[in-house]
Amino acid sequence: MKLLFIGSRLYDDIDWYVKRKGIESVLTESNEEAINLELPDQVFIVPRGMDGPKQVALMQNVDAIVPLIGIDPPLIDVAYMKEEIESEYCIPVIAAGVRAVELTSDKIKTKGFYEEIGVDTPNYQILHSPDELKLDLPVVLKQGQGQGGKDIKVAKTIEDVEEYFNEFDQALCEEFIEGAEISIEVLGFNGEYVALPPIYKGETTLDGTHPLNKVKTGPCMVEGLDNNLVQHVAYKVAKNLDSDGIFEMDFMFSRKNNQLYAIEVNTRPNGTRYLTTATCGVNSLCELVNMAIGEFSLANISDKLQYHYSTEIPVGNYIGPAPKEPVKSFEDNDFVVHGPEGYQRVTARAKSAEELENLVEKLT
Ligand SMILES: Nc1ncnc2c1ncn2[C@@H]1O[C@H](COP(=O)(O)OP(=O)(O)O)[C@@H](O)[C@H]1O
Ligand SMILES: [Mg+2]
Repeated sequence: MKLLFIGSRLYDDIDWYVKRKGIESVLTESNEEAINLELPDQVFIVPRGMDGPKQVALMQNVDAIVPLIGIDPPLIDVAYMKEEIESEYCIPVIAAGVRAVELTSDKIKTKGFYEEIGVDTPNYQILHSPDELKLDLPVVLKQGQGQGGKDIKVAKTIEDVEEYFNEFDQALCEEFIEGAEISIEVLGFNGEYVALPPIYKGETTLDGTHPLNKVKTGPCMVEGLDNNLVQHVAYKVAKNLDSDGIFEMDFMFSRKNNQLYAIEVNTRPNGTRYLTTATCGVNSLCELVNMAIGEFSLANISDKLQYHYSTEIPVGNYIGPAPKEPVKSFEDNDFVVHGPEGYQRVTARAKSAEELENLVEKLT
């Protein structure tokens, strides 16, 4: 088996798995200074965009293509490339297709999609000026595109809304939900979908702190919220997106209204994956490889499922004990360190909440 990976930044997370599976690895990257270029069997530096990867895939005669792109902007080009390569050359591309990316890469379109398929989402309106505001304050103001909290503001007063409009001339304006933030990964391939255990990412705050900067835990244990409901809704969303790869979804649970709300979908590798793997033993990036080599199935996922208590803590620069090889895997480790220097996080797991507490103390 020979696979083409697009993008090197996440490659160290799965290098060990690609090698273990005896897969021949070809990788394209547009930045010759990028990390991990020493890991694959062959590397091609190509211009930005999908023409380079497509040429390399054909020239190298690869069996499948696995994009490893953790940011939103290139996803639509990947989706067009997928449709072309799959239909013209019959090479599977393990990624979301055009319709799924169009619906999920724009938060405004995603709202409409939720409504269409009957999934609850916070009340909202599209604002063109502050005086159109009908929702009660506080509200959350967003742009259609963005990730990691970019261009998002919690407005507590009308002055806050006016201030936001100094910078933007339109906003997706959403009712502020007080409650728990939950993420879940769904894996999809060839019409089969599996929703992995949900992860708890902390409480929403009026200052809009992004979950990237909070302590998170798995599995999600929020009083009054049934994880089966989260998995059921996530499955329904993924099935209606009708595409391949990883679907990471954000939800909020309001204890006051006893209501689960869908917030957004990301059709790419995402920050929830370490906690998902720690919690249930399934690694979404490795599953992309399995999809590419014909080893992804619901039965295989079920066989792998484990149950651990896990947590992820932002540590900045990790100085604790060194993990064992392969360092990005939980196979021989009860913790994994990830993220760039200064923004490192450690994800740890144990058989009980008490053991987890002891482990975290040792690591941080
Ligand atoms: N309706 C809301 N109520 C309360 N907090 C929200 C709401 N929408 C977003 N937030 C806060 O902003 C964060 C980022 O919003 P999100 O829509 O997930 O965009 P991003 O793509 O930047 O992650 C959320 O994780 C949450 O902390
Ligand atoms: Mg989000």
